[in-house]
Amino acid sequence: MTNKTATLSIPGSEGNQEIQLPIHEGTMGPDVVDVGKLTGHGAFTFDPGFTSTASCESKITFIDGEKGVLLHRGYPIEQLAEHSDYLETCYLLMHGELPNAGQKKAFVDMVTNHTMVHEQIRTFYNGFRRDAHPMAIMCGVVGALSAFYHDSTDISDPYHREVAAFRLIAKMPTLAAMSYKFSIGQPFMYPRNDLDYSANFLHMMFGNPCEPSVISPTLARAMDRIFLLHADHEQNASTSTVRLAGSSLANPFACIAAGIAALWGPSHGGANEAVVKMLDDIGDVSRIDEFVAKAKDKNDPFRLMGFGHRVYKNFDPRANVMKQAADEVLAELGIQDENLEIAKRLEEIALSDPYFIEKKLYPNVDFYSGIILKALGIPTSMFTVIFAVGRTVGWIAHWNEMIAESSRIGRPRQLYTGYSTRDFVPVGKR
Ligand code: SDX
Repeated sequence: MTNKTATLSIPGSEGNQEIQLPIHEGTMGPDVVDVGKLTGHGAFTFDPGFTSTASCESKITFIDGEKGVLLHRGYPIEQLAEHSDYLETCYLLMHGELPNAGQKKAFVDMVTNHTMVHEQIRTFYNGFRRDAHPMAIMCGVVGALSAFYHDSTDISDPYHREVAAFRLIAKMPTLAAMSYKFSIGQPFMYPRNDLDYSANFLHMMFGNPCEPSVISPTLARAMDRIFLLHADHEQNASTSTVRLAGSSLANPFACIAAGIAALWGPSHGGANEAVVKMLDDIGDVSRIDEFVAKAKDKNDPFRLMGFGHRVYKNFDPRANVMKQAADEVLAELGIQDENLEIAKRLEEIALSDPYFIEKKLYPNVDFYSGIILKALGIPTSMFTVIFAVGRTVGWIAHWNEMIAESSRIGRPRQLYTGYSTRDFVPVGKR
């Protein structure tokens, strides 16, 4: 903390009020002006969309949008994507340090031994239509976990919070794969403890009881990197939703279900599914200019999906890693995907267009991820579910950080522009 203060002068009937507001400095990034005491002076701040608002203090992830920097507990995402793996990154996000060999083995073993779900949960799926969107299923079944795990919902107990975290990280792939199997009418596959996290997920997605699963290490590594690149991203919409739900002391399963719901929208995690649909609609590089023109047309609600970001006003480092991974995976699998060529050409055209340059619109994490997921055989409807699986650790890490600091309930105020007080009018006089 510093002794720096900001002076706010608010005009009033008795002249200007000069208010001294404390300034807090972080390790990196902008200082923050603490406006908490403004209420006492009869004023609120106003920042719909929270463009300039820090909702909390956190030590988990840092983003520099101007420089395209993303750090998890200080480690650059590029280094983690190259040298680490998803569960090791989960340990880092939750505990603040990279694990040593013993700590990593204990963490991986704990996750591996929590991947099964209660047999009763399997019957939940039968309540959905076969064509239900997998995200609708995930919202339901993840929230329902709180009906099964009463032994880990005392959120004041750090041990309960840790058990809930392990259960969620371990079971999300199982529930996700079940939502896919249900949609295609195939039997659910039980997790296998002899497979690593991402290979196990591919086994549960594409295996069947009639023959042993053969999981390609290339595909498993690509899947793991996808999960890792989606693990956390500071105070994004879904993480902020989890924090707000958690501030009411709701159980962790309900909070994660709220995060899944918020992630679903096409402006957020639903963008990866929308990108592939957009690339399919474009269909050929010759039509790119037509779609770029639509994206620039203020009268057309169409936006280039996978482009732009509230924070990144330079490249999204995850998009760069994802683009490189897309090239590698398709080359190793010998797959020619027209959408990859369209995506690369679209990026070139957009990044040289004054509209996108002026508005600082760059490809984000969702722009290339769909190309890889499609190469892995993941259906488009499962893309946002994959995002949710990867992001679960980020949601849990932020939820735990907030609860551990016993944050107060989040309760924003508003600018009221409705009617002033008026008297009720009996129906005969309306
Ligand atoms: C994720 O927050 C996170 O960290 C999210 C995420 C994470 O890991 O959790 O990074 C994951 O959600 C990535 C974003 C995925 N969404 C998309 O790709 C959908 C397409 N992009 C947008 O809708 C938009 O860019 C947002 C939602 C991502 C950001 O919206 P902002 O910051 O509120 O920006 P804005 O809507 O105010 O746009 C600013 C200007 C506008 O033009 P003007 O009104 O100023 O004239 O840029 C334009 C917008 O019209 N614009 C776009 C555009 N994105 C913004 N124009 C065309 N195509 C686009 N994609």
